[in-house]
Amino acid sequence: MQADLLKRDLESLIHSLHDPKAHRAGHVWVRGEGALLFDADGKEYIDGLAGLWNVALGHGRRDLAEAARAQLETLAYASGYTGHSNERAIELAEKLARVTYPRINRFFFTSGGAEANESAIKFARSYWKLRGRPSKTKVISRELGYHGTTLAAMSATGIPGYWPLFEPRVPGFTHVPSPYPYRAQTTDGSAYGVTIANELEKAIVREGAETVAMFLAEPVIGVGGVVVPPDDYFPRVREICDRHEVLFAADEVITGFGRTGRWFALEHWGVAPDIVQFAKAITSGYFPLGGVGISDEIARALDEAQVPWMHAYTYSAHPTGCAVALRTLEIIEEEHLVAEAARKGARLIEALRAGLGQHPHVGEIRGKGFMCAIEFVKDRETKQPFPSEEPVVSRIHEQAQMRGLISRTRGDVFVLAPPFVTPDDLVDRIAEILKAATEAVLGR
Ligand SMILES: Cc1ncc(COP(=O)(O)O)c(C=O)c1O
Repeated sequence: MQADLLKRDLESLIHSLHDPKAHRAGHVWVRGEGALLFDADGKEYIDGLAGLWNVALGHGRRDLAEAARAQLETLAYASGYTGHSNERAIELAEKLARVTYPRINRFFFTSGGAEANESAIKFARSYWKLRGRPSKTKVISRELGYHGTTLAAMSATGIPGYWPLFEPRVPGFTHVPSPYPYRAQTTDGSAYGVTIANELEKAIVREGAETVAMFLAEPVIGVGGVVVPPDDYFPRVREICDRHEVLFAADEVITGFGRTGRWFALEHWGVAPDIVQFAKAITSGYFPLGGVGISDEIARALDEAQVPWMHAYTYSAHPTGCAVALRTLEIIEEEHLVAEAARKGARLIEALRAGLGQHPHVGEIRGKGFMCAIEFVKDRETKQPFPSEEPVVSRIHEQAQMRGLISRTRGDVFVLAPPFVTPDDLVDRIAEILKAATEAVLGR
């Protein structure tokens, strides 16, 4: 039955990251329940990535469906263009002002993460123009960063595989290295974060601070392989951005709303951004919604402007999306899911380390909160990666799927970000499956 659906699918759809070869062994999902997904053949899988890092509250929730239904019946849609608003959008913005960083109190809503990043870039450019600094337009982002695939977001994305078919990229975008502690070259581990942050300062000076609008970074790199920065990195980034009057925009599309064990991830390092982008978990994936929060200073510039801010989406502040988001945030609070994400993440990392920590091809098991990764290597001593023509981690993923676990990989890294509601026994099961899948491909 699934084979038949896949055949029809291949004849009728173009998919995100379209690749018919990879798709042939794909899944057609028909039902979800908590941390479990069921495919068209009735086979059950643990959803190791909570959909695409978004289904934080798990599948099949009546409370979220009810929030959507109630809003759809009352007012499914209303314009969010200036002169129009809706109650749910107002309530959601007020709620976000309470849970995001203290000086972020105004919000613009989008349909997802890439639109949030596009909007953040436009906020930064327009802010500087309104403040009489029109030459500040450039965007500095990071190698390994992922910000979505619309043209500006793609240009900010620092994973080159996303570029070739779509170039030229938008001009005025440059990349600096991300801290990658496992692959750090420095011997002085204590200053590693500062050393890498200083690359940002060099880039600002090289480009000319008068031309740089913003620095864009994920607090914990997600798609690029769950890379956690050292503690000294973001405090230094904040200092550098302040010194050179560059806005700091945090892409919290994955890390927002509890994934790392804090409501927003820069809280781990006592740092606040000027702009924050969010999406994914804000509706737990039950409705496409994202957005941008801006500092009081940026909001003031927009409020005082003599010209309208000509940026807009038909689905900005969608009442149904806002209703689902409000209910999602309430449930995160009611069920203490931020603390649960921290606890379950620690449990998962411990279980992975117990099972695979000594494996000769496991280089590192890392994570922050409930987003984790295993980086596989050909040689544990030298950290030498597997040659690119040896798709070892894809084979481990195949083996994991055969044992009932679905997630994603990037190069030699297997990433995990299960729903916050995953029961403890399934958290342990994820680690068991990965141990068995690894041993099936690479031996003990
Ligand atoms: C950090 C980050 N930013 C932006 C995006 C793009 O979001 P969307 O796919 O909703 O456009 C993603 C998607 O994975 C992401 O992980």
